[in-house]
Amino acid sequence: MKKISIIGAGMTGATTAHWLAERELADLVLVDVVDGMPQGKALDMLEAMPIIGKDVEIVGANEYAATKDSDIIIITAGLPRKPGMSRDDLLSANAEIVGKAATETLKYSPDAFYIVLTNPLDTMAYLTMKKTGLPRNRVVGQAGILDSARMRAFVAMETGVSVENIDCYVLGGHGDEMVPLTRHSNIAGIPLREYLPPDRLEAIVNRTRKGGGEIVNLLKTGSAFYAPSAACAQMAEAILKNKKLIVPCAAYMDGEYGLHDMFFGVPVMLGANGMEKIIEYQLDDKEKAMFDKSAAAVKETHEALKKLVSL
Ligand code: APR
Repeated sequence: MKKISIIGAGMTGATTAHWLAERELADLVLVDVVDGMPQGKALDMLEAMPIIGKDVEIVGANEYAATKDSDIIIITAGLPRKPGMSRDDLLSANAEIVGKAATETLKYSPDAFYIVLTNPLDTMAYLTMKKTGLPRNRVVGQAGILDSARMRAFVAMETGVSVENIDCYVLGGHGDEMVPLTRHSNIAGIPLREYLPPDRLEAIVNRTRKGGGEIVNLLKTGSAFYAPSAACAQMAEAILKNKKLIVPCAAYMDGEYGLHDMFFGVPVMLGANGMEKIIEYQLDDKEKAMFDKSAAAVKETHEALKKLVSL
């Protein structure tokens, strides 16, 4: 059985474990700093396995040693957003937590792939890659699947069509400047722009951009966790099953889309070698302008990180 360790057993971490256990994909380890909490959640989830008929071992721990020989490390540890807080406000608090989680886990699992979920997402993925010194195929950030799924859900709500028929692509940084690509989105092959009037499409794009904040404002005590964790599980599955799945993820840019030395949300292919390929869309001028604006925002957060942490 493969092994996946999830660092941070809070809302997103524990729910990622839940989605993964349902898929019977790997044995699971939950690590958190809170005494007893990861152990309690792991045991509770383990006791659910006979009910759903899945043979998965689930262990909770406060020490990184429990993650030894993991195939995948998923980092969700950190502080969630509170109302009024931007993702970037989280930077200094989460940089310390994620940096330690990345370097400590690598000691026990030198061959692992990393999926980063902690916000500010693009910058935490960048930090993980720099701190571990891993090649770029072994570190990806989760964001684009979530943002695209939100847009797909809103299109389904608007049109009454099955979510399975709806393909949407949201690229760029995981922030308010994200780039929903309406030209590349479709319902059963029909371009979204033909299916929906411009004002409805515009409303969906705006709601997608603010999708994270909408949940934060409703929950008041935390941020979204069901959809982000479902996205993480899909990424882990694509890697472990060598699916060659093309999905939007935060990946390290080395000249693609004209971007260098930064993480950014682009379509990638996920397979047994992790982030195997970056797919380059042809962007028109308007899309390119949105891309550049989003990239500038992400770059700014990367620069802020470099002032806080030596990389
Ligand atoms: N090591 C391990 N776990 C830690 C550490 C650490 N150094 N520091 C904090 N944690 C744990 C907390 O104890 C908590 O259980 O991380 C967990 C985070 O869980 P939640 O507070 O429930 O937050 P969650 O909703 O899971 O979001 C975590 O993911 O989506 C992003 O913006 C979100 O950055 C946030 C992160």
